[in-house]
Amino acid sequence: MSDNHTANDLMVQARQAARYAHAPYSRFRVGAAAEAGDQVFVGCNVENASYGLTVCAERVAIFAAVAAGQRRVKRLAVACVDAPSDAPASLRMPCGACRQVMAEFMAPDAEILVDGVGAFTVAALLPDAFTLDRD
Ligand code: THU
Repeated sequence: MSDNHTANDLMVQARQAARYAHAPYSRFRVGAAAEAGDQVFVGCNVENASYGLTVCAERVAIFAAVAAGQRRVKRLAVACVDAPSDAPASLRMPCGACRQVMAEFMAPDAEILVDGVGAFTVAALLPDAFTLDRD
């Protein structure tokens, strides 16, 4: 796969990944695509009858990259394909937990592409992220 995925290519992959969402409870499918190394790792939201065990699409995509040995995600696209076209941007934005995970595996100036909203840096989505860096 090319190491120069366009923003549009990444978003198309995020939308396609949403097809595999397991979202029988919320009926709100989400897909994500994380560019890392020369590959793209996709994720979808995976819900559970024990609701709190649900994992968001963004974290599934980032964890797939990490599990393949890629700990530096360069860019991530997310698509909430069930959000109505006239919905507020807040229905499409990454949740707080995913923002903290982004801060762990992405540079502060790395981009998050939010379908139907725009592009944001990790630092803009989560200023002053918690870290365990002690120096
Ligand atoms: N969801 C995501 O996959 N990503 C987010 O950033 C926000 C929410 C999922 C979790 C749950 O399956 C559904 O959307 C409704 O909250």
